[in-house]
Amino acid sequence: HPPSLQMQGVPPLRRENCRAKGGAPGFKVAILGAAGGIGQPLSLLMKMNPLVSVLHLYDVVNSPGVTADVSHMDTGAVVRGFLGAPQLENALTGMDIVIIPAGIPRKPGMTRDDLFKINAGIVRTLCEGVAKCCPKAIVNLISNPVNSTVPIAAEVFKKAGTYDPKRLLGVTTLDVVRANTFVAEVLGIDPREVDVPVIGGHSGVTILPLLSQVKPASSFTSEEINYLTNRIQNGGTEVVEAKAGAGSATLSMLNTRRTYSKMQAYAAAKFADACLRGLRGDAGIVECTFVASQVTELPFFATKVRLGRGGAEEIFPIGPLSEYERVGLEKAKNELAGSIDKGVSFIRK
Ligand code: NAD
Ligand code: LMR
Repeated sequence: HPPSLQMQGVPPLRRENCRAKGGAPGFKVAILGAAGGIGQPLSLLMKMNPLVSVLHLYDVVNSPGVTADVSHMDTGAVVRGFLGAPQLENALTGMDIVIIPAGIPRKPGMTRDDLFKINAGIVRTLCEGVAKCCPKAIVNLISNPVNSTVPIAAEVFKKAGTYDPKRLLGVTTLDVVRANTFVAEVLGIDPREVDVPVIGGHSGVTILPLLSQVKPASSFTSEEINYLTNRIQNGGTEVVEAKAGAGSATLSMLNTRRTYSKMQAYAAAKFADACLRGLRGDAGIVECTFVASQVTELPFFATKVRLGRGGAEEIFPIGPLSEYERVGLEKAKNELAGSIDKGVSFIRK
């Protein structure tokens, strides 16, 4: 067994090969950045997922405490904690899915791109570990700016000779979650009945909700379209400002005013669950995600994809757009092109 904070002095695990409910094999999931604002509630939610048999929680701080806490839950997954760079390889070995919410978050007034300087290096190091220890794992990349960190990860995997574009997925689920919520509010219906495709990327104008394709089919006034598009595009900023710095890395170190990113963890867990069901072989698992794609001239783009055993097995086209959305698409592509280039050249230069 790999050395693990949780398992020191514990007899070999009989549960190592445990099976999920219904006899299907359970999957091994690692969370990198597990002690953070997203990482902690995400660890809780993944420990509750019946498809997870082994859960590895890695961080450069505080992972022993998070691991001890989460591991006492009476759900199936075996939980192990890993602390610091020397334990990264053990955290990753044998994993089926690696979820990465490691890195600094925004403070009020910052853009996601302002995080590039620090998070680009963190994502590079973690992805080098993935390439070495679990090159077949499906990677769910959450660390911002997603529009650049996904291209960074792709370049790291290409360099290592392990790149499989179907297995590298940028998490944009929370844009869909927000879109479903805000559209349901406007329509006065249950958000669980609403499906809004959100395409493009995960930042400002690159977040493009397709209100013309909302299910159930609905029409919106131009005032509603403006309101909804702006609110969905600025949902992250709305939360960052409402937290007024309490979600920032510095304050979280002091642990005085920490706020956890509950909805963001919910969205990440929802997406990871869809990946797990795809891995299990379930049919018809469709989610929006930022992937290598040929639906536009850009090398990466978020659209609906079908998730299966190999990751993003089918990428769906954008579909018919309204005039408002066509204009939005051009703006989104302009900004995305720069963010993708920035990520690619960070590794190539
Ligand atoms: P946080 O500061 O609360 O937590 C980040 C965690 O990452 C910390 O525990 C920190 O110790 C850890 N970390 C830092 N360097 C690391 C490394 N080299 N290896 C492993 N762990 C490391 O921040 P947060 O609120 O959890 O946000 C994390 C990231 O996720 C941010 O970049 C944020 O912008 C992004 N985010 C993305 C989405 C999305 O939908 N894609 C949603 C919310 C947040
Ligand atoms: C979000 O959309 O909530 C995240 O990307 C965090 C942020 O900085 O907005």
